[in-house]
Amino acid sequence: MNDTYAPVREKSRPSLLEQLNQDVPKKDFRDDGLNGFVWALDEFGRPRLKDGPEKQWFENTLLPWDERDKYTFENFNIDEGNRDAYLRVSKWDPENESVGLFILGPSGTGKTHLLKALIRKHATNKQKYVFAPAVELIKPLLNEPTPENEALIIGKYVAPHGLIIDDIQEVKETDYQNNILKKLLDQRASLEKPTFMTCDLTVNEVREHFHRRVLDRIRGYCDAVETKGTSHRVLQKRSKLEGK
Ligand SMILES: Nc1ncnc2c1ncn2[C@@H]1O[C@H](COP(=O)(O)OP(=O)(O)OP(=O)(O)O)[C@@H](O)[C@H]1O
Ligand SMILES: [Mg+2]
Repeated sequence: MNDTYAPVREKSRPSLLEQLNQDVPKKDFRDDGLNGFVWALDEFGRPRLKDGPEKQWFENTLLPWDERDKYTFENFNIDEGNRDAYLRVSKWDPENESVGLFILGPSGTGKTHLLKALIRKHATNKQKYVFAPAVELIKPLLNEPTPENEALIIGKYVAPHGLIIDDIQEVKETDYQNNILKKLLDQRASLEKPTFMTCDLTVNEVREHFHRRVLDRIRGYCDAVETKGTSHRVLQKRSKLEGK
């Protein structure tokens, strides 16, 4: 048989099934709703997570696996502006504390880094810690502010032992959003589950931004700590420029 007509390029191309099972490139964080954790497609073309520690980590924390070693207490540089916050967060004790932390400070001063390090230290399969950017948390309400979506949010975020709400100032001053936050914080507190938050507003701005009753809950359910100083993003850029 003459096989000179065989499509040479076809031979090296993986079959459709192989293509489906091939790793697909990681997508940007948050873009696909799976925080970049898309590795393969199932038989219906839906993204699925591979079994393994990465999958468990993602399901328990909603953080990408590569953040596990990126944001730790060990690689956090301590300076005058962040020492108090560093000590408070790194020594926070899940055995004896059900009160969470409210980290206040300007952009780039390590608030999110510290709370991701807290997750890294304490999250286990039995004690789940979930990282929720505030915008993600309230997203279902922006499109469809229905009681069902409200129940969905409460159910999802009451469940984990530790909840980190990143950039809480993104919860806007609307009655509805404040009300959800109030309910969520109350339910978590009644179950003695700690809630942690970051916020880039000043103390005075916080007072103006949140409803009085939400503010009272933040104060009642969290211990406040402050980070100060220059943005590490800016410092990192400077040292890169100097290194060149
Ligand atoms: N003390 C530090 N040591 C090492 N890296 C740091 C430190 N503080 C911040 N960084 C790094 O700088 C970047 C910005 O920090 P981070 O995201 O924690 O800031 P933030 O206070 O949450 O800012 P924003 O309010 O804009 O969210 C991150 O890459 C973080 O790892
Ligand atoms: Mg942050």
